Amino acid sequence: MAQSTPWTMTAIEIGTPGGPEVLTPAQRPAPHPTADEILIEVHAAGVNRPDLMQRQGNYPPPPGASDIPGLEVAGTVAALGEGVTGWAVGDAVCALLAGGGYAQYVAVPAVQCLPVPEGLTMVEAAALPETLFTCWTNLVDGGHLKAGETVLIHGGASGIGTTGIQLAKALGATVFVTAGSPAKCEACRRLGADLAIDYKSEDFVAAVKQATAKQVGGKRGVDVVLDMVGGDYVRRDIEILAQGGRHVSIAVQGGPEATIPIFKVMQKRLILTGSTLRARSPAEKGRIAEALHETAWPMIAAGKLKPLIHATFPLERAADAHRALEDGDHIGKIVLMVKEAPEI
Ligand SMILES: NC(=O)c1ccc[n+]([C@@H]2O[C@H](COP(=O)([O-])OP(=O)(O)OC[C@H]3O[C@@H](n4cnc5c(N)ncnc54)[C@H](OP(=O)(O)O)[C@@H]3O)[C@@H](O)[C@H]2O)c1
Repeated sequence: MAQSTPWTMTAIEIGTPGGPEVLTPAQRPAPHPTADEILIEVHAAGVNRPDLMQRQGNYPPPPGASDIPGLEVAGTVAALGEGVTGWAVGDAVCALLAGGGYAQYVAVPAVQCLPVPEGLTMVEAAALPETLFTCWTNLVDGGHLKAGETVLIHGGASGIGTTGIQLAKALGATVFVTAGSPAKCEACRRLGADLAIDYKSEDFVAAVKQATAKQVGGKRGVDVVLDMVGGDYVRRDIEILAQGGRHVSIAVQGGPEATIPIFKVMQKRLILTGSTLRARSPAEKGRIAEALHETAWPMIAAGKLKPLIHATFPLERAADAHRALEDGDHIGKIVLMVKEAPEI
């Protein structure tokens, strides 16, 4: 290890599973990096919906992962495992984690680390990894989204959605979204969405059919759906997928089971797929990191992709950050300030 590290740190613990109040600051031993890991001094940590599920006891950390919540951070390199090359103590770094982000220090496989993009603050960089890794692997690897195609992203104003809109636009796609209020729809349009459907006042199936009625070649519908709702959305998504369309599930907020019109899947030669990110191996996450560095980092440098920060909270107020995410009024990301002075 290239540098000595502190013995203890402040971290947010989940007491017994429950409401936001079970998140409490505690003193913990600081982690030490193994041979392939980087120890990060955390400046900011992103808050994600899966963190709420973990707090409620519905999303346990995968084997070997920290029990401290937090799936993404930005900070500086504090120490290097002996096998790690290409990084130096003091480098600005952001990382995808399997857990442990709500803390002053976290150790993470080096392959899951990326440089903080030039021009982004630590808060913005902390809001990148979980949503970008998820959007990339589901829109590109799973959904095979290509320039010139059309994608429908449900939950357009979410952390995932606000990143997904910008990524899909930068890839050259036409982007439709659903969101739950006129203000959220307007925010999605400002980020580049070509069509934003307020699903609470409009049937998204009818809206997509109408918007794609004059598509070239009589092809009607969207090529890819990125779905974080599940339940009866799957049947409705299938109705508006075009010939050869891909349906990518990333969450089941509307229910874990669906009844599917199989004959339509056959007629339209649809592909139904999906993924989870957290339990995948460091090697798989490393492959996504490489693809992001090659493709998404230049988009960030070109100003085409930037996390939308809704609010920040000091680490000690992680419970309030969870309350804010649970309220559901946010547009974009909520971030914990671990070292930085509050910016927003
Ligand atoms: N599979 C993976 O690898 C992976 C990775 C990360 C996150 N996720 C999942 O992706 C989702 C978004 O994560 P996040 O951190 O970005 O959360 P978030 O910002 O809290 O977003 C959740 C969004 O879900 C929408 N929503 C909830 N119920 C809905 C319903 N019945 N119909 C339509 N929209 C609904 C809400 O939209 P409105 O407020 O507009 O209604 C909200 O914007 C979460 O479910 C999370 O678990 C999956």
